[in-house]
Amino acid sequence: MGVRIRSVGHYVPEKVLTNFDLEKIVDTTDEWIRTRTGIRERRIAAPEQATSDLAEGAARNALERAGLAPEDLDLILVATATPDHLFPATACLVQAKLGIRGRACYDMEAACPGFVYGLLQARGLLEVMPDWRYALVIGAETISRIIDWSDRNTCVLFGDGAGAAVLEKTDGDAFLSAVLGGDGFLGDLLIQEAGGSRLPASEETVRRKQHVVKMVGREVFKHAVVAMQKASLQALEKAGLTPDEITWVVPHQANLRIIEATRERLGVPPEKVYVNLDRYGNTSAASIPIALSEMDARGLLKPGDRVLMVAFGAGFTWGACL
Ligand code: UT7
Repeated sequence: MGVRIRSVGHYVPEKVLTNFDLEKIVDTTDEWIRTRTGIRERRIAAPEQATSDLAEGAARNALERAGLAPEDLDLILVATATPDHLFPATACLVQAKLGIRGRACYDMEAACPGFVYGLLQARGLLEVMPDWRYALVIGAETISRIIDWSDRNTCVLFGDGAGAAVLEKTDGDAFLSAVLGGDGFLGDLLIQEAGGSRLPASEETVRRKQHVVKMVGREVFKHAVVAMQKASLQALEKAGLTPDEITWVVPHQANLRIIEATRERLGVPPEKVYVNLDRYGNTSAASIPIALSEMDARGLLKPGDRVLMVAFGAGFTWGACL
């Protein structure tokens, strides 16, 4: 028994926020943002949209491309760091929005690599559930809701969006290898401090701006470069492949300089690395499935292609999957 990705899909909100728009909000420039990150613009959810709404859009797109109905699904798994609520799980809300009942549904939080973690979890569940056939894995975020729009260190980096994949049980396995890792000793370097059990919401936490993303960018950058390179090479080694045998690298889209450093270490040419962060910024768990969905829509993915996904994020967590 094996598992393959039958289809991918995505949804991004209509509203575009450009670097020039940000110049009017904080002390920054289009030039700084472009040269330090590679980002030109990002999407921002409408006031009435939450993560489950973006996730629903991606889910419907992926189901349509799979030629399946919501009723065909056995599992809905949402990877997100920005759920609609702490509970119920956003996946349950997505299930209701899709008009179905009774399927397994839950969220998982592994920050930016959440989709990679989610793919592997869903694959494992399909393997142990003999009567299951299809799983929907969604990476969805509305990070704009947890951003301090007066902090130029973070507000220029992120965007909202969702991507999804339908996994299908098959005879041959499409998963060649995977690497998952983490380091909780460094959690403080990228954190939303309040709103959980450590610091429940209070007037004080709001006054101290503890409900927004705090990041020590330079430190996160350094760790991201090392972890992305290492995880990529480990995934290749586990599969017994060399970098020139992969067709595509689909990296988490946080910073073009991190992507470039990973590419150089692997020694693959730029045309083998898919980049869309210029249009979406860092959409955390949504970045890899949005990229896959765009690639598929553009006819860039062919049967037999070897695709390396690799991501790094808060926790820290990292993951690579071939
Ligand atoms: O997805 C999860 C993982 N996240 C990441 O991988 C993000 C990792 N970090 C990064 O991508 C980069 O560290 C940043 C893009 C966040 C920052 O780039 P950097 O080259 O590391 O800049 P820096 O933080 O060292 O700051 C350099 C300077 C500082 O000024 P001083 O202290 O040298 O005078 C900052 O205040 O750039 C300043 N700066 C800005 N200037 C204009 C920081 N943000 C901005 C801004 N516009 N938006």
